Amino acid sequence: MIRTTLDGSNAPQAELLPSVGLLALDRQYAALQEELLAAIRRVCDSGRFVLGPDVEELEGELARTLGVPHAIGCASGSDALLLALMAVDIEPGDEVLLPSYTFFATASAVTRLGATPVFVDIDPETYLLDPTDLLRKMSPRSRAIIPVHLFGRTADMDAILPIAEHAGIPVIEDAAQSILSTWHGRCTGGLGDIGCFSFYPTKNLGGFGDGGFVTTTRDDLAERLRLLRVHGMEPRYYHQVVGINSRLDSIQAAVLRVKLPHLDTWTSQRQANAARYTELFRQADLEGRIVLPSDEPRGRHVWNQFVIRVPGGHRDNLRTHLRERGVATEIYYPVPLHMQQCFRYVGCEQGSLPATEQAALETLALPIYPELTHDEQRTVVGRIAEFFELPLPPVASDAQGQQQNADTGLQPPRFLRRINAVGRADDVRC
Ligand SMILES: Cc1ncc(COP(=O)(O)O)c(C=O)c1O
Repeated sequence: MIRTTLDGSNAPQAELLPSVGLLALDRQYAALQEELLAAIRRVCDSGRFVLGPDVEELEGELARTLGVPHAIGCASGSDALLLALMAVDIEPGDEVLLPSYTFFATASAVTRLGATPVFVDIDPETYLLDPTDLLRKMSPRSRAIIPVHLFGRTADMDAILPIAEHAGIPVIEDAAQSILSTWHGRCTGGLGDIGCFSFYPTKNLGGFGDGGFVTTTRDDLAERLRLLRVHGMEPRYYHQVVGINSRLDSIQAAVLRVKLPHLDTWTSQRQANAARYTELFRQADLEGRIVLPSDEPRGRHVWNQFVIRVPGGHRDNLRTHLRERGVATEIYYPVPLHMQQCFRYVGCEQGSLPATEQAALETLALPIYPELTHDEQRTVVGRIAEFFELPLPPVASDAQGQQQNADTGLQPPRFLRRINAVGRADDVRC
């Protein structure tokens, strides 16, 4: 049992919790259970299971929420990337520039079309595409750029968009982790030519299975994307181009329509949790031992992940320490894409992307989901303080605790109450 406090004397003491999960999807489900089950039942009663009215309604709601003219549902975030690259005619011999520090699907979409991924290094502070390295890697064969808005933070579009414009090539935003994040007030997905989103359950807007969507501000690309997701078929059984089968299920759309009105609130709760972590780490004097993620002054960071850097070779031991004490963490991503066996043929040697390789060795994602409580966050920070043999951060005073609840509505009993709808989908603005 740990009873140390930061000032060692007057601050209230409390034990740390026995466990903290990386996610708690059950809390979100408990709050919305009745509405979700009713939505699923409605689809079952309708007998329409693929695309259909719920998908069309969801597409409209997403477009209004993100401030783009077109949102088009598809079967996954991975397919969203593939469809986007097909829509801009990427083909064998083409080069597509993207970070190596991202989820596999960003690069596999490129290779599935026979094109070559050109791996670009990241900015070591933001973990996002480094525009200087991007410029260095551009070539006459460059045909598209995929900035990834990793962990919920927008890539440096001030630098990336002019590079693409100068080369006359499209920008495909991988916004799988960044729904509702912004850049100078505009949502990701509407900054480049096409935005690619994922409804994977761990995402900020997660379904009950796989799903995704693409966004675009261009009418010509919207038409092509709609065609490509249904085998290039229009009208029925007449195929204009070879597309893929990537339709969004009606049940997923119905579930997501229940969740979408809450996304803005959930995002604010993630932001509040990030701010609280920063304060707790500061109170625990841990800033010299780990590097905290920074917020984005030019837009809204939506904190799909809260990723700390643990220098000095301590990351894996810290993770083991946390696991043994019930605190779940994850490493995004332990092996950069240019070092994956399947991409060795690209010829991007180990050592060639130093910021990426260092990040893969040092980063650790902590729980950040909206319903995370103050006590859970204090437990995470307390366990990390324990690893570095530092005192625990103090328990929040009553005033702080009340402030937390007023700000985020995170009082534990609330998880078990039904949340009333927070506005309509088209009220959600970013
Ligand atoms: C950055 C990034 N790109 C693409 C994807 C692929 O999305 P999905 O899992 O829905 O296929 C994901 C999600 O896993 C992701 O995090």
